[in-house]
Amino acid sequence: MAEVQRAVPWDRLAEEALAAAHQAYAPYSGYRVGAAMWDGESRIVRGCNVENASYGATLCAERAAVGAAVAAGFTGWGAMAVAALGDAWPRPCGICRQVLAEFAPELPLLLVRGDGERIVTSLVELFPSPFTLKPKGDNA
Ligand code: THU
Repeated sequence: MAEVQRAVPWDRLAEEALAAAHQAYAPYSGYRVGAAMWDGESRIVRGCNVENASYGATLCAERAAVGAAVAAGFTGWGAMAVAALGDAWPRPCGICRQVLAEFAPELPLLLVRGDGERIVTSLVELFPSPFTLKPKGDNA
């Protein structure tokens, strides 16, 4: 049977990413970011940035969303929205691009500004040549 291709729920993803940005813990930068990952079917998980007094321990919203998706048992990666409160466009940082590429190198992306303006792009456009290694399996 042919696989049913679902339309990306962009509006819902934008709303979820903005809602997640409001939960951000960003006392040092004041830059609040939220992400919403869709599994391509019916599930959406969120992430937000979580800063730390030891700045390098800060977690970005996109990686928080990837962690939530893996923990939720996502097997599909449909699309992700990233929202930043304020008037600057969010852009996944280099580390987040590499982490996203591990699971979904062509992931469709929606960038959402605090005023609700949006841009559709994709990970392959932002990060066309990720580093990869051949998986060796796990200890399960
Ligand atoms: N940040 C994200 O959450 N995602 C990105 O892709 C870029 C940066 C966060 C990390 C930090 O809390 C704040 O934005 C400023 O760098």
